[in-house]
Amino acid sequence: MFQKVKGFQDIYGNDLLYWSKAENALKKLVDLFAVEEIRIPILERTQVFSRGIGDATDIVEKEMFTFADRDGEYLSLRPEGTAGTVRAYIENKLYEPPVLKKLYYMGPMFRRENPQRGRYRQFSQFGTEYLGSKSALCDADLIKLFVSFYAEVGLGGFAHLEINTVGCPKCRPAYKEKLVAYLSQYEDQLCADCKKRLYKNPLRVLDCKVETCKAVTKNAPLMIDNLCEECDVHFSDLKKYLALLDVEYAINPYMVRGLDYYERTAFEMVTDKLGAASALGGGGRYDGLVKLLGGPEIPAVGFAIGMDRVVAMMKMVQELTDKKPLVYVVVFEGRSTDAGVEILNKLRHLNISAEIDYDIKGLKSQMKKAGRSGAKYAVIVGEDELSRGNVTFRDMYNSSQNEITMEEMYKIIQADK
Ligand code: HAM
Repeated sequence: MFQKVKGFQDIYGNDLLYWSKAENALKKLVDLFAVEEIRIPILERTQVFSRGIGDATDIVEKEMFTFADRDGEYLSLRPEGTAGTVRAYIENKLYEPPVLKKLYYMGPMFRRENPQRGRYRQFSQFGTEYLGSKSALCDADLIKLFVSFYAEVGLGGFAHLEINTVGCPKCRPAYKEKLVAYLSQYEDQLCADCKKRLYKNPLRVLDCKVETCKAVTKNAPLMIDNLCEECDVHFSDLKKYLALLDVEYAINPYMVRGLDYYERTAFEMVTDKLGAASALGGGGRYDGLVKLLGGPEIPAVGFAIGMDRVVAMMKMVQELTDKKPLVYVVVFEGRSTDAGVEILNKLRHLNISAEIDYDIKGLKSQMKKAGRSGAKYAVIVGEDELSRGNVTFRDMYNSSQNEITMEEMYKIIQADK
């Protein structure tokens, strides 16, 4: 017997009801916000990610599924959707004509992380990217779409939006120096990972969850207090537009996203209900990425929702039950089977969900199956009743049954549709 690969999952049964509900909510929202779909490959040249996401990020450094193809070229399973979307945007010249392009995608992503609750090696993201606007209103309207989704699937009260600004290439270098100077004084108190981060990616020290690191960063200089004029205005505008759009938020000046392409706006939907996997989704502005990947200078902002975590949360706070057939048709060998198949066919034409036992075992066995199917009615097509143009009609919920005409049977069922 084979077992699935570590960190991968089979999704089936009742769980898919939650997936469908979430996907339907997304479909409704992308229509409302006029966002168009894009389907991008699962496999890209490794450089799309290493350059796009950043060499010094955890994702690129240690989490990608990368292999050399037969011709020696390095390929990687996509760990996220933004870099690939931007690659496709440039390659297909989607920036012509120069209007705002609003794209969404949904599908599997792969990161070789340590699997735990809410953290898998294959997981699903729903992502949205708005390419072509620098305006804070664009950020705010995209964030409105983001938060609307959680409300739509009933998670509004169980998670909250955090926002931050991570500066830009103009103000960040000076801030970084300030931060490194501060952190260096406490280097011996930092965890092993943060000691490395201090030189490679010092901002990441700010959102380390280790207590000793948290104690150090408590008084660290923050980006939000060291912004250039433009970033400062952008952040103020963002807050203004979020308020106008009725989006509630908390400012978390310690939030640093795990991907290097962000500038200015950063945001996450967080919950305390999933242990370490606290982010149900996140995003931000990435004005430099299109150029970095070889395209023109085009600003952009986007987000990705972690669908597996959303589904895990939905399962905690609401119960969805499987759809049952309304009718189970019970038949016997011979004429009864033919008549039963005709009834089954007619019910489906009337848009009524119905099932039959393909193996035609005895009455007792079929009634058991009818019970297990959850059907409300059983239509028992007995030879005797059939010769009178009737069937035995059983209400499975209150265990009452009587012989009625075919017409009556269709009438009752249709009234209950
Ligand atoms: P991210 O924060 O790396 O952002 O991932 C977005 C969401 O994906 C996370 O908040 C989380 O819910 C989910 N996620 C990440 N890793 C895992 C995992 N191993 N197992 C389960 N769920 C996971 C991005 O990926 C950016 N591309 C978002 C973005 C789009 N920024 C701009 N545009």
